Amino acid sequence: MSEALIKAGLAGELEPGSEEFERFVDLTARRPSGPEGVSHYRDPKDHYKSFQLAVRLLALRADDVYLELGFGGGQLLKMALGKVLRVAGIDHSP
Ligand SMILES: C[S@@+](CC[C@H](N)C(=O)[O-])C[C@H]1O[C@@H](n2cnc3c(N)ncnc32)[C@H](O)[C@@H]1O
Repeated sequence: MSEALIKAGLAGELEPGSEEFERFVDLTARRPSGPEGVSHYRDPKDHYKSFQLAVRLLALRADDVYLELGFGGGQLLKMALGKVLRVAGIDHSP
């Protein structure tokens, strides 16, 4: 059911705390997977503003090593790579 609601853009209909809601959070955030997960995290347009803020606040220097836990599609890692020479990340999502 979660997959159908997500596809229909109706995830807001899920009851917070319900099994379906938890499944939605798993699929979209905790461990994204499937075509929707790939297509969202490949180019997470709604995240770029916070990515830019994070990069600015971190004030990275070229000799810093940037480590990101839960990097998703890696777009913030890519931005950090514009500031430092070495980046690394880990993510448990396939
Ligand atoms: C909400 S997504 C955000 C992804 C990315 N940081 C972004 O803003 O586009 C959270 C990411 O953290 C990863 N993640 C969550 N818990 C994790 C864990 N315990 N170990 C590794 N990766 C984890 C998920 O697989 C997912 O890719």
